[in-house]
Amino acid sequence: MHASVANYLKQNSDRFLEELKELLRIPTVSADPACKPHMRRGAEFIHRQLADLGFQAEIVPTAGHPIVYAEWLKAPGAPTVMVYGHYDVQPADPLDLWTTPPFEPTIRDGLLFARGATDDKGQMFTHIKSAEAWLRSVGSLPVNLKYVIEGEEEVGSRNLEDFLEANKDRLKCDVAVVSDTSQYAPGQPAITYGLRGILAVEVTLTGPKKDLHSGIFGGAVANPATGIARLIASLHDDQGRIQIPGFYDQVVELTAAERQQFRDLGFDEAAFKAELGITEVAGEAGYSTIERRWARPTCEVNGLVSGYTGVGPKTIVPSKATVKITCRLVPDQDPHALTAALHQYLKAQCPRSLAFEFTDYHGCPAFVFDPNSPYIEAASEAVREAWGVDRVRLIREGGSIPVVQTFKDVLGVDTLLLGWGLNTDNLHSPNEHFTVADFHRGIEASSRLWAKLAAMKS
Ligand code: BES
Ligand code: MN
Repeated sequence: MHASVANYLKQNSDRFLEELKELLRIPTVSADPACKPHMRRGAEFIHRQLADLGFQAEIVPTAGHPIVYAEWLKAPGAPTVMVYGHYDVQPADPLDLWTTPPFEPTIRDGLLFARGATDDKGQMFTHIKSAEAWLRSVGSLPVNLKYVIEGEEEVGSRNLEDFLEANKDRLKCDVAVVSDTSQYAPGQPAITYGLRGILAVEVTLTGPKKDLHSGIFGGAVANPATGIARLIASLHDDQGRIQIPGFYDQVVELTAAERQQFRDLGFDEAAFKAELGITEVAGEAGYSTIERRWARPTCEVNGLVSGYTGVGPKTIVPSKATVKITCRLVPDQDPHALTAALHQYLKAQCPRSLAFEFTDYHGCPAFVFDPNSPYIEAASEAVREAWGVDRVRLIREGGSIPVVQTFKDVLGVDTLLLGWGLNTDNLHSPNEHFTVADFHRGIEASSRLWAKLAAMKS
């Protein structure tokens, strides 16, 4: 890498971290309407960062939270790279399980604790600081850069597709880069070539118009909590197979070669169980833990609410019961068709004595990228050099990033998923954190990446 870039990174590493902390103090919870003003502040922070570097930058309003778009196009003939990231975060609850408050970033033992530290503010920020390093030391970038940093990833990127469609020409690029995934293990970086898709719904069953005395009325009216439990129980059979009709029809089965590739990664199941505090793994019969997580579809209950949940007993028949469900999808499952199939399956089983209400939140298909692409080789070199290792694993992951398929469909480009985080960083959980050293390695890898991608075309 350019010596002056390397030097700039060294000189400014503490300030980079302080600036990230500033961003982490803004509670940008996209799911919470009360955070709307903070979402604006989050977007303004990113906008200012890029505008100060000489990017053409703007805050684009949407029907939901704003998108920050910025571009620097002064490298004629060089490739154009799209950087995508998100400044929104998941809700911080349950708050009492955080050692230090979620929006007061704190460093302990080389880890930066805060909601969004790894997912995705910390990872996304590495690509802004790498651009800064080039522009403030060399004075230019080796590639053209476009940034799309959105505020609705954690709620399904509802308004992003419209933005991409409407700005197709302006957003033209050769490849997209996203750091919103994980390393394979600490110090063992990975490039992710596949993600699962998702569908997210909510079901509410309503019985009596208010909670009832369970002695006076119980036994004579349907209990919505019992009703919803029966619906949930009908989702899987004893082998962990999902029972929604047609659910597996489009599933692309793993090839023998890919199963072997997964086995060759050497997965430490004992460490996995210890980390999660479980005694046994569980899931669809006939598949390994990695296969179940990366390449098999699931149907999970994410939340379940009904009746009295306070301390001590209370004798009621609840009026309502609600369940939040997400299915993770694999190629070639269609989120819209399967949302309809799930709706129909649950509704058909709901007793007539309970009212059935179904909400479709969002969905996106799974994504698998050609693991032999030359972009992967260029990225792999940059990551190897920054991490000081001689190999970067090629993995799939089980999480979802809705935009990657949209990039392919709308812009016709593939996405490099370069994960600087760890799956043990507590993303979406209390005490989310990002390893400070990985933040700095990520900035270095990103700085090197721009040069590697520039070298590819010549
Ligand atoms: N960064 C995650 C996705 C992720 C994490 C992928 C780790 C691979 C490894 C992302 O922000 C996320 O959580 N996405 C949501 C998307 C959904 C709400 C549409 C998800 O996967 O639940
Ligand atoms: Mn994320």
